[in-house]
Amino acid sequence: MMKCDLQNVKKILDILCYWILPLTLLVISFAVPDAEVFRLLGKAAMILLIIILFISPLATITQWRSLRIILGFRRQLGIAIFWLAFFHTAGFIYVQDLTQTILYFDLGYHLFYGAVAMLGMTLLAVTSNNRAVGYLRRHWKKVQAITYPVFFLVLIHASMASGEWKKLIVFGGAYIILKVVAWQMVKQRGKSKLK
Ligand code: HEM
Repeated sequence: MMKCDLQNVKKILDILCYWILPLTLLVISFAVPDAEVFRLLGKAAMILLIIILFISPLATITQWRSLRIILGFRRQLGIAIFWLAFFHTAGFIYVQDLTQTILYFDLGYHLFYGAVAMLGMTLLAVTSNNRAVGYLRRHWKKVQAITYPVFFLVLIHASMASGEWKKLIVFGGAYIILKVVAWQMVKQRGKSKLK
């Protein structure tokens, strides 16, 4: 894909993720304030988060150009995940009246993990723009690294909420394996370049 094509795709994605998606989710949330809808938004957020995180090690392992191109839209995808998670959270707080703060301090309950994940996602979203990159400079990467604990917190929250640990074991396990393989390959390629 040409560079200017990519810039155009980015501009369209910017409008979609920063404006159209939140406005659409706002309308849906008021029109159909139903637990099933809010559950679906949580699932969509989790699936997109899994995709976005898996693409990076897969791009390193396979060296497929198309995966690298998708990686260039990480910021927009991250914002889309934030909005899906936000309306999932706000929706459930409203329909299940989850306003008692005590609910969020019980480590044995899925809401604790969901709330910490949501806080992390908010931090990631507000620091994803160019101004934050310029302001935080070398600390920006450290802040973005909270994506990893957020990912595992979301898996724990979703697993506990649905009463089965399959999500955490399958996606958490697969992600760790992919990261280790990608890391080994980068090391190998670095060594063969030196030879
Ligand atoms: C304070 C923050 C949050 C609250 C109050 C909350 C609330 C809930 C509730 C009440 C459920 C159980 C739904 C049910 O079956 O009755 C649930 C499940 C779920 N939540 Fe959250 N959540 C929060 C954060 C998040 C975040 C940040 C994500 C993901 C990005 C997420 C994704 C999910 C998923 C995937 C499920 C499981 C859906 C299923 O398999 O049935 N949640 N959440």
